[in-house]
Amino acid sequence: MKPHFFSLLIAGIIGLLPLHAQIPATTAKMNAFVSGLMSKMTLEEKIGQLNLLTPGGGVATGAVVSADVETKISKGQVGGLFGVIGVEKIRKAQQLAVSRSRLKIPLLFGSDVIHGYKTTFPIPLGLSCSWDMALIEHSARLAGIEASADGLCWVYSPMVDIARDPRWGRVAEGSGEDVYLGSKIAAAMVRGYQGDDLAANNTVMACVKHFALYGAAEAGRDYNTTDMSRIKMYEYYLPPYKAAIDAGAGSVMTSFNEIDGIPATANKWLMTDLLRKQWGFKGFVVTDYTAINEMMAHGMGNLQTVSALALNAGVDMDMVGEGYLTTLPLSLQQHKVTQRQIDDACRRILEAKYKLGLFEDPYRYCDDNRAGQEILSADKKKAARELGARSCVLLKNSQQVLPLKKSGTIALIGPLANNKNNMLGTWAVNGDPQAAVPILEGIKSAVGNSAKILFAKGANISDDSVFAKKVNVFGERIDIDPASAEQLRAEAVATANKADVIVAVVGEASEMSGEAASRSDIGLPGSQQQLLRALAQTGKPLVVVLMSGRPLTLTTENDLATALLEVWFPGIEAGNAVADLLFGHYNPSGKLTMSFPRNVGQIPIYYNHKNTGRPQGDGPTEKFHSNYLDVANDPLFPFGYGLSYTSFKYDHLKLDKATVGLKDKMDVSFTLTNTGAYAGEEIVQLYLRDKEATIARPVKELKDFKKIRLEPGENKTIHFTVDKEKLSYFNSNLQWMADPGMFEIMIGSSSADIRLKSEFELR
Ligand code: BGC
Repeated sequence: MKPHFFSLLIAGIIGLLPLHAQIPATTAKMNAFVSGLMSKMTLEEKIGQLNLLTPGGGVATGAVVSADVETKISKGQVGGLFGVIGVEKIRKAQQLAVSRSRLKIPLLFGSDVIHGYKTTFPIPLGLSCSWDMALIEHSARLAGIEASADGLCWVYSPMVDIARDPRWGRVAEGSGEDVYLGSKIAAAMVRGYQGDDLAANNTVMACVKHFALYGAAEAGRDYNTTDMSRIKMYEYYLPPYKAAIDAGAGSVMTSFNEIDGIPATANKWLMTDLLRKQWGFKGFVVTDYTAINEMMAHGMGNLQTVSALALNAGVDMDMVGEGYLTTLPLSLQQHKVTQRQIDDACRRILEAKYKLGLFEDPYRYCDDNRAGQEILSADKKKAARELGARSCVLLKNSQQVLPLKKSGTIALIGPLANNKNNMLGTWAVNGDPQAAVPILEGIKSAVGNSAKILFAKGANISDDSVFAKKVNVFGERIDIDPASAEQLRAEAVATANKADVIVAVVGEASEMSGEAASRSDIGLPGSQQQLLRALAQTGKPLVVVLMSGRPLTLTTENDLATALLEVWFPGIEAGNAVADLLFGHYNPSGKLTMSFPRNVGQIPIYYNHKNTGRPQGDGPTEKFHSNYLDVANDPLFPFGYGLSYTSFKYDHLKLDKATVGLKDKMDVSFTLTNTGAYAGEEIVQLYLRDKEATIARPVKELKDFKKIRLEPGENKTIHFTVDKEKLSYFNSNLQWMADPGMFEIMIGSSSADIRLKSEFELR
């Protein structure tokens, strides 16, 4: 019986039903359509829908590239493709499906659209440092518009894996270490990609990845195993995936790692009990690249066994490995899988196609006119420039050397100073590095004729040719100069000596982070450290512009530099965005979303850690306390940290209640004043600590933040609301609850720079 419209409306309003269940008529229509279609499908055709291939036109991320793709499409053995780019090619592939296959079922076309499509935005770790949900959502919206104009309808983003280990190269693709911020960003990205109407020709289906815990790979080594308690999962690692699903993400990608000893791709608890039953996910689950086949190496059995395990777990689509295609018929015969499981998986894929409007028009995303209008359009480049500047974090600015004056002579030095190949950052498979604005060009166009700009390369990104070869798999990111390191350095020093100020652009090559780019030493390569030492010896002010896809260990650089600006990989408008900051067209406002350790031995390092019974005090290392003999406990640059060209004063903290009940909302207010000479934005952060909990709680946890813009001298009263939700956590029974007792409330400019503090009681 069809539920009555008004009862559903009321249920929807009071939150009894997830958003996607609120349109019963549409759902009923979809169900009827899909059932009708499935009644005509053979077993082989159903299994065909579960098969996702890449013809090798894109970048193959695993060892395998699918063969005979055209024949398979014609036989109805393919549900979707990725790595096929552009309206013309996509139309051809779609034509094969809708004209040659028996049931004319259209294909899904996916791609790794991670930070922009052809208009490449800053890497996601950089974007997260903007703490600007509207801008982040907008970046995904623009990427969706651009990708869909090029024929795509499905993007493998957002990546929401929380990571506390900067050795892991894929921290570049995520939003850092914090669960609260990470969850907000996850939801914003999904909203941006999917918009209000998945069937519109300018929206795309999101695929939240990598479910789950991929960011907790042991020792930061990619694809490595993970092991953690359920409480830790529920509290710190799972919420961003859930936030993406609550925001309506249409698909989920499995992770490569194991969870409780069972690879995620075969983990029924994860894919069915948690994802579908507890969280109510209604979309489809795709594996990561050959993740089913890789379970053989995990020791889970042969291809038939691991494919059956994945289907049993609730995984719908098999990326590249073809384990489903080749083994499910036999597994069905042998009762290792059921017809119902195959039907459910097939239904979910067909539903996704239905929601995207592909049955109505398989060429919905193949409008010849849109690509010309949307790809690399002026509005997208403008956004890229804005996002580039807003993602950067000013780590040091002594003697207020920044912003630079547009006068005198500026020596621009460094292997990344006049370099196009590295500006886009990792996972920009659809971007063209040659379209990027190098830093030299950005600076020249910012200063025009008012200042003289000199340039010298100064060093190679790395002098190690074996290392360079490993980094250069997708093209030359590290080019080793024929000149010797000494010659390069001498030339740089001579150039610096002619200038008033040095701007050194140093860091990682873009592929030194990203997938399969773990590092055990996360320092600046030796060649560049030597360059900075030589430049510092000139005695000239030294502005270090740092590019990296992860937090680096920077104690030496921090000592040598007069100013330190972390710019990540800013994307296609890199040079203009960085110049905007250097010359003060835009006042830096980014704040770190991952802690920068002092050395690798401190890892894992994150701000929301637990206290020990013997915490280290503020004084020197004490015996029998939790500390190191050879390094401080705190990071060099903490979570939430970032400077501005102006300064902000925090005062007049007021809580409207001294005690709060479980149903209360407490208003927390304070005054923020811009006490400096520049207009600027401050990201104010609210942290809480539960002091009387049944499970020991972290020393502080981010529970809210706001980004506030103030003119010089201007002040504003800022309000936050604290309620039960913000005071709750998962107890030993994995129940979300709040403990009565005392809480500490902290408002600060970073997790380590708490400006205002108070306490209150929960009754
Ligand atoms: C990565 C995924 C990506 C997929 C498809 C895998 O190797 O882990 O993040 O979406 O390849 O390119």
